[in-house]
Amino acid sequence: MLKQAMASILTPEESEEMYGAFDQIGSKIILRIPDSLLSKKKLIGKVLLEKVKTAESVFYQSSPVEGDYRIRQLELLAGKENTETEYKEHGCRFMVDVEKTFFSPRLATERLRIADLVNDGETIINMFGGVGMFSIVAAKKKKCHVYNIDINPHAAKLCSENIGLNKMKGTVESIEGDASEIIEKKLDGVGDRVLMLLPERSDEFLHSAIKALKQKGILHYYCHIHSDKKNQVSEVSASHFMSVVNVRSEILGSKIVRPIGPRFYQAVVDVMLYK
Ligand SMILES: C[S@@+](CC[C@H](N)C(=O)[O-])C[C@H]1O[C@@H](n2cnc3c(N)ncnc32)[C@H](O)[C@@H]1O
Repeated sequence: MLKQAMASILTPEESEEMYGAFDQIGSKIILRIPDSLLSKKKLIGKVLLEKVKTAESVFYQSSPVEGDYRIRQLELLAGKENTETEYKEHGCRFMVDVEKTFFSPRLATERLRIADLVNDGETIINMFGGVGMFSIVAAKKKKCHVYNIDINPHAAKLCSENIGLNKMKGTVESIEGDASEIIEKKLDGVGDRVLMLLPERSDEFLHSAIKALKQKGILHYYCHIHSDKKNQVSEVSASHFMSVVNVRSEILGSKIVRPIGPRFYQAVVDVMLYK
């Protein structure tokens, strides 16, 4: 789609260099452009904005997702400067800010998988909940109570807004702060299920995640795994988990969530923990 759209302004050789896909989140397009084509970035943005009728802005992603808030730097190429937009997924509405908060449309399948696993009546602690995507999709499908914690004030504020938009006041709670501190203060032993969507730092927070669970509870442990063989990723992630956990654990399943680089994967291990 992207290469086709660029046919009028790029040579066939330049088109080959262009990445094949871009993310569209609501009315915002986010694009990566190889260094060799950066001199044409504004023109690329302008043409793309003309082609994609539902888009209001095209941004160039000038940094990887980074820092405590897991956000990226964006540069406006064409259209409106505003980075907030509405995004719809699995029957829910979300206000997201594509620059000030983490957001990935590529986790949509994983959000639905988790929501399907939840049982009615559960209390869920979403330790790194962002703008509330996983929490609200789960609460839409099942009768559960979700604590959505995030240290980024913009994410916590948008989560509160999203709770209102989806009429989930009293069902999903947005809490701003460090997950370890919040669990220590008010969520010790409260969760039937804990989500750990900060794969780079899961081991660091594992102790707090276990603390947040009841005597017996389910943990969704996300991690990053290097592997030459794709078919070994789930096994490697499960054995990594078993090497770092210090309470009785029964692996319920493990799988690749998405590829994130050459021979590099985001994986999830679903575990029943007994304290
Ligand atoms: C990879 S994002 C996941 C967000 C969300 N679960 C989603 O999928 O849209 C990780 C989130 O963890 C938050 N975070 C980082 N350190 C944290 C901490 N110590 N306590 C709570 N949240 C934290 C970041 O602000 C970011 O929103």
